[in-house]
Amino acid sequence: MKNKIIDNFGRVHNYLRISLTDNCNLRCFYCMPEEEYAFTPHARLMQVREIDQLARLFVDHGVTKIRLTGGEPLVRKDAPEIIQVLSALPVALTMTTNGIRINEMLSQITDAGFASINISLDTLQRDKFIQITQRDYFERVRRNIDLLLDRRVRTKLNVVVMKGVNDDEILDFVALTRLYPVEVRFIEFMPFNGNRWSSNQVLTLKEILERIAAVYEIEPIAPKPYDTTKPFAIRGHLGTIGIISTMTAPFCESCNRMRLTADGKLKNCLFSREETDLLSALRNGEDVLPLMQQGMRAKAKALGGQIVENFKEIEADSLKNRSMITIGG
Ligand code: GTP
Ligand code: 5AD
Ligand code: SF4
Repeated sequence: MKNKIIDNFGRVHNYLRISLTDNCNLRCFYCMPEEEYAFTPHARLMQVREIDQLARLFVDHGVTKIRLTGGEPLVRKDAPEIIQVLSALPVALTMTTNGIRINEMLSQITDAGFASINISLDTLQRDKFIQITQRDYFERVRRNIDLLLDRRVRTKLNVVVMKGVNDDEILDFVALTRLYPVEVRFIEFMPFNGNRWSSNQVLTLKEILERIAAVYEIEPIAPKPYDTTKPFAIRGHLGTIGIISTMTAPFCESCNRMRLTADGKLKNCLFSREETDLLSALRNGEDVLPLMQQGMRAKAKALGGQIVENFKEIEADSLKNRSMITIGG
């Protein structure tokens, strides 16, 4: 085994999130900038061979888990090819998707042996789905979740909780876990460039738990090492729930994550402002490894050094980051 990827705080990084594109077939306001947004042209995105080369470099240095993200990863025409190439690597392959195109690529997805698939779904109401995403795909996403469950693919639902938008549906999502063997994860709303975040719209870990515990008997489950999620079982339910609490109880101390943006920039943290351009180095025939190691060593202790402890004091406009659609979560 070659040298592991370690930062100045001794954190070992074995989880790589690869964004395949900043394009998406939805228009969620909490992810996409409000103003006109130009998607990155295909030639500037990492191509299949480049993704494979970069992924292998990371795997050689200790990466054991790769997640495909976007934008929406499955809008890329060559997504099946990318999935096939990466499924040959000795890693747990995972993906975060809005679920719209699952039915079109079902055989490739099941053949690839995904360790799990995370579906972003913030509402169980068709009208609200249209209001949040500006597209009418609710029924299709619901059907595609059933397709995954029918095929025994481990499935998680990601619900970004926003006060006044979908916090009235928390209990409906919990109810879903009674008969569905899914993990529903409630995510504290996070600020990114142009995403119309306001601290008043954040429902905290504590508030989410209070609302659920008022109705259900919930029991903490031991969290998996390095997980983003604080998990809970609900008495009598097949599925489980979890909370992702970046704003009020971050998990940076045990962070094992690295990100490659679709245009091949290494981000050492979700909130990092500095990035390392690995794709240009690869295309210029330079040695990518020292750049990657240097980029990771420079990782801030927590939250990109940008998010303060009291989230009420955050000024979203002053964050130096990208929009969420170009990071992939
Ligand atoms: P699993 O591997 O299934 O646990 O998924 P994940 O939580 O690593 O990834 P996913 O793409 O499903 O992201 C769920 C939520 O967690 C999104 O809101 C992400 O932005 C957030 N998230 C993922 N990774 C990190 C991270 O390293 N730090 C922080 N603060 N949030 C993260
Ligand atoms: N805050 C929290 N989570 C977000 N996601 C997208 N935007 C935000 C935000 N502003 C989630 C999506 C997706 C995951 C990759 O990140 O719901 O599931
Ligand atoms: Fe890791 Fe940054 Fe997420 Fe903290 S905010 S867990 S340091 S990626």
